[in-house]
Amino acid sequence: MPVTENEFRNAMSRFASGVTVVVSKDAEERLHGITVSAFSSVSLSPPLVLICVEKTTGSHAALAETEHFTVNVLSSDQQDISQKFASWNLEKFDGLDMTMGELGLPMVNGCLANLECTISRIIDAGDHSIFVGEVAHAYIFDGDPLIYFRSDYRGLE
Ligand SMILES: Cc1cc2nc3c(=O)[nH]c(=O)nc-3n(C[C@H](O)[C@H](O)[C@H](O)COP(=O)(O)O)c2cc1C
Repeated sequence: MPVTENEFRNAMSRFASGVTVVVSKDAEERLHGITVSAFSSVSLSPPLVLICVEKTTGSHAALAETEHFTVNVLSSDQQDISQKFASWNLEKFDGLDMTMGELGLPMVNGCLANLECTISRIIDAGDHSIFVGEVAHAYIFDGDPLIYFRSDYRGLE
């Protein structure tokens, strides 16, 4: 019997992950941000990461027509930011504490890491696309991670 959607979801929910917010700009220079847990390191030399983004999202459309994105690795006290960027809220960036990066995209303050990336490849993958980004700049900070496990937010404890 092939795996059902529910079985697949349930199996994947057993894989604990960190939580990131990916920021990009569309061709009209409008900012887009999306909560992404499907983030991974790919290669050390060159330094590559990947994000998997659902094709129906606003961010997918923006990422498909731009060159850069930032990955912001959320800390344990940024659950509200994760929720905001996982919603259809159009004012996601209002009141958000940010610093402008060197590639012209804002980076979220208070994160454990901010990565500025240039898109090097887009791979079609079912109802998602895989965006491979070469990391141009990386900034790291101390703190505990926000963790997503079995459809809920957790801390390290
Ligand atoms: C913890 C968490 C992790 C998520 N991870 C992903 C992901 O890896 N890829 C994705 O496409 N959507 C992911 N989502 C869903 C998107 O954040 C959500 O569809 C968002 O509303 C898209 O925003 P946009 O349409 O403004 O781009 C995640 C949501 C949550 C709460």
